[in-house]
Amino acid sequence: MPKLTERPVWRSLAAHWRARDAHLRSLFAGDARRGEKYTLDAAGWHLDYSKQRIDDETLRLLLQLADESGVVARRDAMWRGEKINNTEKRAVLHVALRAAREQKIDVDGNDVVPGVHAVLDRMAAFAARVRVGDWKGHTGKRIRNIVNIGIGGSDLGPVMAHEALRAFAQRDLQCRFVSNVDGADFHEATHDLKPEETLFIVASKTFTTQETMANAHAARRWLLDTLKDDASVGKHFVAVSTNAEKVAEFGIDTANMFGFWDWVGGRYSMDSAIGLSTMLAIGPDHFRAMLDGFHAMDEHFHTTPLAQNMPVLMALIGIWNTNFLGATTQAVLPYANPLKRFPAYLQQLVMESNGKSVTLDGSRVDHDTSAVWWGEPGTNGQHSFYQLIHQGTRLIPCDFIGFVAPLSPLHEQHDLLMANLFAQSEALAFGKTAEQVRAEGTPEELVPHRVFAGNRPSNTLLAQELTPHSLGALIALYEHITFVQGAIWGIDSFDQWGVELGKQLAQNIAREIAATDNNDLTHDSSTNALIRRYRAGRGE
Ligand code: F6P
Repeated sequence: MPKLTERPVWRSLAAHWRARDAHLRSLFAGDARRGEKYTLDAAGWHLDYSKQRIDDETLRLLLQLADESGVVARRDAMWRGEKINNTEKRAVLHVALRAAREQKIDVDGNDVVPGVHAVLDRMAAFAARVRVGDWKGHTGKRIRNIVNIGIGGSDLGPVMAHEALRAFAQRDLQCRFVSNVDGADFHEATHDLKPEETLFIVASKTFTTQETMANAHAARRWLLDTLKDDASVGKHFVAVSTNAEKVAEFGIDTANMFGFWDWVGGRYSMDSAIGLSTMLAIGPDHFRAMLDGFHAMDEHFHTTPLAQNMPVLMALIGIWNTNFLGATTQAVLPYANPLKRFPAYLQQLVMESNGKSVTLDGSRVDHDTSAVWWGEPGTNGQHSFYQLIHQGTRLIPCDFIGFVAPLSPLHEQHDLLMANLFAQSEALAFGKTAEQVRAEGTPEELVPHRVFAGNRPSNTLLAQELTPHSLGALIALYEHITFVQGAIWGIDSFDQWGVELGKQLAQNIAREIAATDNNDLTHDSSTNALIRRYRAGRGE
């Protein structure tokens, strides 16, 4: 197949863009029904994409691009358990994690769904015991604190879900998260906890990750400093991993280990056993509702024609904005404070997946891949970086996310919150012309400063309520957007070789920092000097 940018459809999209540079003002003026026409509903979510700089022809060409890029074939290969993670020779089956009990999904000829449900059942039994106080600590006390130790995919999803679903959580069970190898993270999370009431979940797919292992060892020391008995580890540590051998080596009884599989990528694992802290907080029934939300979006993605398929359309619009309109970043702006960690979660999901510059066959891409994803909850962002989104020189497509039902008993404030969401997307799209500014009586010298060019694209996603179900569907939506974009760009969205070099170098440098001989450094002059300065300063 020719390179992506040499394909006729890609060239047609580029030509289409040059030929048709209409402002959103005229696109809306030209079609009174545009705001209803470019909308879609799936798995409890309503998408309004009418404020994107597209028309019917743009969509037709983008859908042709998806079609010719084999998105459907790759999607179906994923569901069939084929090893579409090319460089690691692994299947990619996070969709099996939320499959219904009676579904059948094979990897290498074995149905994986019974195994998924067996782990979920064990998690549910364990969570129930902890939640009612039946699982006791070493001294017979009830567990009051859960500390999840993990990083990347073994942290960001659980942290995000914990924030998002606090309203559904058992309030007398405190959940905390430790990820950073900076000891300050562990210290802050544990300094006011009682070891006899604390349960650590060591969450690591590989059980070899430097940061997680360092924190897990710190946790064991912290526990034993007080409880003074190695046997206490069994009551205060459980593990979530694919590596039983390393779990046992650490000293955690594998009877207290919750497993998952190599066909679950770290950043796609929050609905596997990695979600144990989530299940402990919200309980097995709410956790199941979250999985059902994921599953509802999976079903939509798997079975709906491309033109009505929400992840496909959002992925295509993202490609339009990135590869044709030149946007280099994508903002995600939840108008829901509980979703404050959602942008951080998406950063790993999208950028570790699609931050690649070679295609599946190893050849260099001739187009941009993932945008830089970022964001903060509205309305906080409005008083910070929105200035640049409205009047800066860069094009920043935005995804606004909101809920109809209030997230707190302060209903009036919810109306205010949502008024801000609707106002922002309106202001971005339509802006304010110089004539409008003058008509307000603005002094002439201030007119240019008060003009809003508009034509800044956004999606709005609305659901009735923030629940485990709607959260699950939202996460699955972005998982599948990531999948579709990776399929079109022709890259492996499921490996992450880009994180390796820094890890290796850090191991060497840690050894060098520990060594006393100052002359053994063989890095570049900058790195050598920095290490020497650090060693010298540390010695003082
Ligand atoms: O370094 C990146 C990474 O491999 C992520 O992909 C992963 O989510 C994270 O590290 C943590 O890995 P693990 O769960 O094996 O500790």
